[in-house]
Amino acid sequence: MKVICTERSQVLGARLAKVLQVPIVDVTFSRFPDGEYYLRAGDLDDEIVVVGSVVDNDALVQLMLLIDACEHSHIRLVLPYMAYARQDKQFKQGEPLSARVVANALSRGVSEIFTVNIHDPDVLKYFTVPKQNLSLARDIGSYIKALHLKDPLILAPDDGALAFAGQVASAGGWDFDHLEKTRLSEIEVRMAPKKVCAASHPVVIVDDIISTGGTIATAAGMLYQQGATDVYAACVHGVLANGAYARLMSTGIRDVICSDTIERACSRISAAERIAGAIRKR
Ligand code: R5P
Repeated sequence: MKVICTERSQVLGARLAKVLQVPIVDVTFSRFPDGEYYLRAGDLDDEIVVVGSVVDNDALVQLMLLIDACEHSHIRLVLPYMAYARQDKQFKQGEPLSARVVANALSRGVSEIFTVNIHDPDVLKYFTVPKQNLSLARDIGSYIKALHLKDPLILAPDDGALAFAGQVASAGGWDFDHLEKTRLSEIEVRMAPKKVCAASHPVVIVDDIISTGGTIATAAGMLYQQGATDVYAACVHGVLANGAYARLMSTGIRDVICSDTIERACSRISAAERIAGAIRKR
């Protein structure tokens, strides 16, 4: 077995190869003068694990080319982050079901697919090969444990992420809840935990994705007003669009933590062990 990865997943790819104790394939990446991608894979193996997060359109094309370059091998695809997964329904007439488009395209030529905290597990049905969705909730929980916070409160930004917050909180037996938005006036919104009180507690807001960080930034300010001692933000996929990291830090958030499904300077949690564990069970 060997691991091969796209440019945007080289850190996770190398970590995965190390955990699996298999070689990583060297790949030459370049572009044609008109901007088209070119790549050439080094020595392959009968069994290949392709690692490639789809963080944008370029990453999608590069991943498709890499899969094709491995066509004579038995390919397992690790898709740590899948862009377009949030367009998982045709919300309005005339829209594409983008998650289905990407899932279909990436199923071609591979024998199975591993995703990590895919935005909605319902999307898995669009992959046309066997698939498994892995969760880093316990890994985030372990990271928080190592911070030695006193009675932290784990908060989901909305009720949709409550189950995820519960899984994170189970690492330390901490209280968890979700934030509830109350509209006070046309321009004023209040956000507070639905059942518990944040006063005198450190709070960790957890979610699958931090994109613009808008919700968490607003929530952090309000949690401080409610007496939270410290506010942290942790997620699996640090999309961090439009200056989200700086925006979050400017609200007084103590730290923003994400995993290496998207490779960022604040990727402090690795998905490698969890992915390796799933691959070893096959
Ligand atoms: C949405 O359903 C996701 O789980 C995240 O809550 C969302 O993507 C975060 O978006 P933003 O960071 O832009 O508030």
